[in-house]
Formats: sequence, C-alpha cells, structure tokens
Amino acid sequence: MARMSLRQQSARALRGVAWRIERPPRTWRRPAAPPQQDPGELTAAESPPGSRIASWFFEQFPRFYLTSSTGLNTGRLNLRYEAIFGQNRDIFAGASVLDLASHDGRWSLAALASGARSVTGIEARPELVKAATENLEEYGFGADRVRFVCGDVHEVLSTQDFAADVVLCLGFLYHTLRYNELLHGIRRTGARYLIIDTFSPYMMGPVPNVHVLTEQAEEEGKAAADTYTDGASVLVGCPNLAAIRIMLGAYGYRVERLSDWAGLLRDNQGTDNCGDYANGRRITARCVNTSAAPGSTG
Ligand SMILES: C[S@@+](CC[C@H](N)C(=O)[O-])C[C@H]1O[C@@H](n2cnc3c(N)ncnc32)[C@H](O)[C@@H]1O
Repeated sequence: MARMSLRQQSARALRGVAWRIERPPRTWRRPAAPPQQDPGELTAAESPPGSRIASWFFEQFPRFYLTSSTGLNTGRLNLRYEAIFGQNRDIFAGASVLDLASHDGRWSLAALASGARSVTGIEARPELVKAATENLEEYGFGADRVRFVCGDVHEVLSTQDFAADVVLCLGFLYHTLRYNELLHGIRRTGARYLIIDTFSPYMMGPVPNVHVLTEQAEEEGKAAADTYTDGASVLVGCPNLAAIRIMLGAYGYRVERLSDWAGLLRDNQGTDNCGDYANGRRITARCVNTSAAPGSTG
C-alpha cells in the first residue's frame, strides 16, 4: 500500500474522530424538520427539487476543523456549505466576493472553490485574519485571489471602496445592531447578490422584530468591540425574517429564496447540531439587488 504523508494521515485521523463524535446510534432518527414557513412571498419550497445529500466539502480542507472553535461541529459546517454554496452555485462562477466577518476563511475558500474569481474578507480579530490567510495559502490561494482586511466591518465598509458581485453575510447579522451602516455599505459594493445566514428566536413570526441583547467582546465567535462599545459589552440584535425583508427593501434588495434546510436535514439524517435550522429559527437566504440588470453579475 502506498505510504501516506503526515498531512494525509492527520486528515484521515480527523475524519475518524468526526465520524465517532457525530454519528449517533443507528436507531436514532431526527424527526422530520417542519417546513420553514415564511410569512413573506417566497418559501423554501421554491428551491430546486432533488436529493440534498451532502458532499462533505470540508473533508478536503480539514484545517478548518482545527482553526476555529466557533461552529466547529463538522456535520453542521458541511451542511451549511450545502445551504450556502451547494444551493447557490450559479452565482459564484467568475464572481468577486466580499465575505463579511470572514473568521478563519472557511467561506472565502468555499467561494473560491465554487468558482469565484476573487474574495475579500473583512474580520475584526487579527488572530482570525492570520489563521484565514494561512489556511487559504495552505490550500493554494494566494494574494492574487484572496485578501483579508482586519477591522470592524462597519468601519471598513464606510472608509474603503469595494466592488463585489456577491456579498456573504454569514453568522454576523446577530453580532451587530448597526443595520443602516451595514446595509448601506453592502449596497455601496453594487453586489447583485447577498447571502444571509442568520438566527432569530422569532425568525418566522409575522411581526417584524429585532430581539436585542448584549454579547461579551472577549469571546472569539461573538461581536467584536467597536467605536460604540462601552467596556466589553456589545449591544447586538437578532432581526427576524419579516424585519430583514424591511431592512433589505430600504437598501434595494429582496429575498429571492430560502435554502432548503428541510431537504438537507431529511437527506442527511443523524447530522448533529443543526437544531436551530431544523426548528426554523435559523435561515440561509439568497437576496437579490432589485435594481441590478437581470443576468448581470455586477
Ligand atoms: C459567529 S462567527 C461567524 C463566522 C463565519 N462567518 C460563519 O458564518 O461561520 C462571527 C464572526 O464575526 C466576527 N466579528 C464580530 N464582530 C465583528 C465586527 N464588528 N467586524 C468584523 N468582524 C466581526 C467575529 O470575530 C467572528 O469571526
């Protein structure tokens, strides 16, 4: 048998660990996820039909199982990949992508692997910018295709100019309350598409709602301190889908469709740690710029 390199051996060992941690006993079956009832004009049912069996994309890139303690669960990470990229593949070919709150570069890499021409990530925590740069380099993406800007998203968006075809706002909407600045900045990029992946305890309620709370800035995956932060406590909010629709509308975007999480959970039974998607409190939404010409990527 051909000898495996150290990297191949560690990737294999990691896969073994992930399998043991995440695969529940064979008798266990997740109850079918309820369809995500969207009070607006579109529902997940409008996403393309067919099998949702996950490709386990990140198995090829196991560094991302190690470089973050946020959303580390491998099953969740791989199903999120399907909801964000697998179900939106058409918008990434040749696109320039802006990845807000880019963390360890996981979604920047996924965008490049999905055909994006270039990616710019914005991330507040310097150690995560370093990890992202190293991760992308390790997998063959250098400064000609990807760069990471270290800073507060709102500050960076308002002081620098970015042109993008697709903006990724993944796991960030609930780490801010500065929605005017955020959406104004996104609008300024001219992006035709915006993908939002977010949580609210009242996601599918018919009444527009922003659930307000505070987060501690010293925690890795939480809101970073910004100009308005007093001490370590950052004021943040979780807008529900009805509120997101209103906010998007004010900046020329609308929800085009929701990713089919019910199908993903149905076809990948036993994938743990996806309860918030299963119970409809977390969504992946593809949004489109209502004034960009159809078919244009800019
Ligand atoms: C929950 S993690 C989401 C990571 C990744 N986008 C994902 O969806 O898996 C939130 C990320 O937002 C970053 N972050 C928090 N507040 C920020 C801010 N004001 N500006 C830039 N990044 C911020 C955190 O450092 C962290 O990397």
